[in-house]
Amino acid sequence: MKIIIHGGFFSESHTDADTKKAKQDAMERIVKQAYAYLENHTAQETVVYAVSLLEDDPLFNAGIGSQIQSDGKIRMSAAVMDGATMKMSGVINIEEVKNPVKVAELLLPYEDRILGGEGATAFARKNGHEPFSTEIKQRRKEYKEKLKSNGLGTVGCVALDNKGNLAVATSTGGKGFEMVGRISDSATVAGNYANAYCAVSCTGVGEDIVSNATATKIVTRVTDGMSLKDAFSKTFDEMKPYDGFCGAIAIDHDGNIYHDDSHPTMVYAGYNGKNLDMFR
Ligand code: GLY
Repeated sequence: MKIIIHGGFFSESHTDADTKKAKQDAMERIVKQAYAYLENHTAQETVVYAVSLLEDDPLFNAGIGSQIQSDGKIRMSAAVMDGATMKMSGVINIEEVKNPVKVAELLLPYEDRILGGEGATAFARKNGHEPFSTEIKQRRKEYKEKLKSNGLGTVGCVALDNKGNLAVATSTGGKGFEMVGRISDSATVAGNYANAYCAVSCTGVGEDIVSNATATKIVTRVTDGMSLKDAFSKTFDEMKPYDGFCGAIAIDHDGNIYHDDSHPTMVYAGYNGKNLDMFR
């Protein structure tokens, strides 16, 4: 069993030592809680659980604490993909739900599995997700000041369960101040992808991640026999010509955990039941 989570980027220019410590504490707590959950649950169930814990923490830009868009509203996106069944489901630009990733998970058994905007919100309401404001005072203050203080945040989790199945989930509050209708990478196969060989979750600038099809490329390269490290290296090199801003976490079918970022510093924590590997 292996697990790795990310919590977007830590930007030195916009966060202080206390925030960094708070994020480290939160990441350690959540990765260990999710690992304990993985002992009795599938990889797919666990990635949703881990991402919902990250969504519940206002330190991260997903669920509670999401960024505010240019028209003053919050719209969130999230997806889950089960590497065993190759099913991906997601919600794009959903409004006023506490846990977008749980709505994404509810869509897994459906034929129509990725819903956007009003349809996603209506589906959530029909399935018991009451209206819930994920706005926090700090985000409204930043919005008023037009400061993009934490705009490179997204959360994600990749897990390998004790049956050898891989899964991934990713959730985001977006870039902040984006045009209404803009679509994040998080509920696309560029930002969230898994199969039986590898699972990858991305964070960073959605446009850069979509331009490179980052998660899909890494998974495909590992499927075709490349090592996880080499697949990351080649895929991240391909973002260099346009200075793509991206971080990614992954696990392969042999249980190798890997992460990389194009710019400092991705907030991540990996755990195997004994050792914690954490951003510093
Ligand atoms: N990676 C999140 C976004 O760009 O919306």
